[in-house]
Amino acid sequence: MNKQINYGIIFKGKEVIYMLIPEREKAKIRSKNKVLTKEYKIDDELKELGLGKTYFIKTYGCQMNVHDSENIKAILEEMSFKEALVMEEADLILLNTCAIRENAHNKVFGMLGRIKHLKEERPNVIAGICGCMAQEEGVVSLILEKYKFLDLVFGTHNIHELPLILEKAINSKKMEVQVYSCEGDIIENIPAKRDSKYKAFVNIMYGCDKFCTYCIVPYTRGKQRSRNPKDIIREIEKLKEAGYKEVTLLGQNVNAYGKDLDINYDMSNLLTDVASTGISRIFFVTSHPWDFTDEMIEVISKYDNIMPYIHLPLQSGSNRILKLMGRRYTKESYLELFHKIKDKIKNVSVTTDIIVGFPGETDDDFNDTLDVVNECKYDSAFTFIFSPREGTPASKMKDDIPLEVKEKRLYKLNDIINKYALEANQKYMGKIVKVLLEGESSKGGLLMGYTDTMKLINVKASKDKVGEIVNVKITNVQSFSMDGEIVE
Ligand code: SAH
Ligand code: SF4
Ligand code: F3S
Repeated sequence: MNKQINYGIIFKGKEVIYMLIPEREKAKIRSKNKVLTKEYKIDDELKELGLGKTYFIKTYGCQMNVHDSENIKAILEEMSFKEALVMEEADLILLNTCAIRENAHNKVFGMLGRIKHLKEERPNVIAGICGCMAQEEGVVSLILEKYKFLDLVFGTHNIHELPLILEKAINSKKMEVQVYSCEGDIIENIPAKRDSKYKAFVNIMYGCDKFCTYCIVPYTRGKQRSRNPKDIIREIEKLKEAGYKEVTLLGQNVNAYGKDLDINYDMSNLLTDVASTGISRIFFVTSHPWDFTDEMIEVISKYDNIMPYIHLPLQSGSNRILKLMGRRYTKESYLELFHKIKDKIKNVSVTTDIIVGFPGETDDDFNDTLDVVNECKYDSAFTFIFSPREGTPASKMKDDIPLEVKEKRLYKLNDIINKYALEANQKYMGKIVKVLLEGESSKGGLLMGYTDTMKLINVKASKDKVGEIVNVKITNVQSFSMDGEIVE
């Protein structure tokens, strides 16, 4: 692991070696050191540390964090810990945190209150936080000052060191804080305890170099590092052998895959090779409109096992705001790409992310966003009110838009988004679609699963069909789900 410090924060034990608020100019000068690929290893003597003990992990944030938690669970089980059903009964509690918006922070601090209580009742409980909040200087300082009852803090770059960190936390009885400011090598073969037997997350790259001005991710996740194609393909082949039907290729900006490798190989090459493994379904998130190439569109439309579902974040439809966000595309170039995708990929479903209330966003700017939404008629969208993140350029921009105005814009936007979501679903009425059945539906007596366009379907079917891709005729549609029956 390359521990050279060149930006951010690093703590070792309780001692703060180097500390700096995320700063764009510093973070942009990323380490020129070559990223190496190393193998995960756990010392034999740590394999029994958790004998007779249980763990509980609470995960916040995106799929990347969900997959990190799958890795953490498997590491803990290698150490003989067993998973507890509820937090209150666990001997080890970890919060895998998200830093993307203020409310993500608030949820974690609320949970820390509960954990404090628990530790008062059961002082032997070991509790810690990890994930993106642990990469923020302000958060770690606050923990050192106000949450002294915690036993361990580690970041997103050293999950593979968890056995050693945990051993120290347990044996020293002191708070163990190990956060690396600088991303290290890529660690292969970290085990994963996946929640699903049919759908698997597969990291294809780590970090992000886009530096959108509102976003904390390039600081919490470090510079862009692509995994070697052969390691990705090997993982997917193994998943296929184990009966997995669907893989989601994960990265903050997957279209830029390969740009940091010194082989001539990009996302369209990777998609081709993953499709050629023959795995039934392939999905990838997230696509930044800037790096979406014609070759990618061609490959997606060519292979049946690449799902016709694209998440294409818009963020704003105003060119002025897009520029302030540092998004590197315009309303016009976004629309051009959108229509190309719609024209070339049959029955494609497109979803998006939108931020309202970016600093200085006027009614005109907001109306530009609505224009794009009205033109694209997305299948669905995640919408957010801008949340200033410490250290990001946007957090220093003048923001004189009152919260009530931002909220009104969000409600108005959501109404329009929901209207189009229902319209998009209505097109499925009476059609026959392929659904990967995942398990029981929250609607009693039914199973649930998704189409290859990521539509949630409740299906009347017997439980032995779970794990299969079946033909379903749609009999009823709502905005967020549909009902259907199996047909042969
Ligand atoms: N890499 C992904 C983004 C992951 S974060 C991408 O570029 O699309 C998911 C979404 O959270 C973003 O698309 C954005 O809409 C939203 N988001 C990120 N930072 C935010 C902030 N500071 N305030 C509000 N929403 C934010
Ligand atoms: Fe954040 Fe996504 Fe922009 Fe990267 S591309 S800075 S993760 S919004
Ligand atoms: Fe949150 Fe980190 Fe993901 S900030 S959205 S958990 S990359």
